[in-house]
Amino acid sequence: MTESQSLYAKIGGREAVEAVVSDFYDRVFADPLLEPYFDGIDREALYSHQVQFISAVAGGPVSYDGADMQQAHEGMGITEDAFDRVALYLTEALEENGVAEDDIETIIEQVAGLESDIVGQ
Ligand code: HEM
Repeated sequence: MTESQSLYAKIGGREAVEAVVSDFYDRVFADPLLEPYFDGIDREALYSHQVQFISAVAGGPVSYDGADMQQAHEGMGITEDAFDRVALYLTEALEENGVAEDDIETIIEQVAGLESDIVGQ
């Protein structure tokens, strides 16, 4: 088992990631600055892709079959502020579900690395 596979297992596997993603989108959709970006989007498909994506980021044995990050966010004019809010809500959702601070850091570091694919495309 690699270190990152144990991160997925350590945080509680599929059930934990589903709970995190559910809390995450509750926060995102409750934010009036973010909600309009998701107008007309199939939220069920979004949720299931996000579960796959976060599982893969945590090194889980799950394959992500959504669009790559640049394609998924193309033409949306996502601002740095919007990106920071989304990253904050992911952090809060991880905290709320009992993920340890250093494991949150590992996950958020990887997400932060995606900023240039997501912002301003
Ligand atoms: C912070 C890091 C972010 C990550 C890891 C992330 C991840 C994802 C993933 C995995 C998808 C699914 C792609 C697919 O279904 O093919 C997605 C879609 C989407 N994301 Fe993000 N995202 C991030 C930030 C943002 C931000 C800041 C916004 C806007 C404020 C945003 C808005 C959207 C929208 C509207 C979709 C739906 C695209 C569609 O189905 O056409 N995302 N994102």
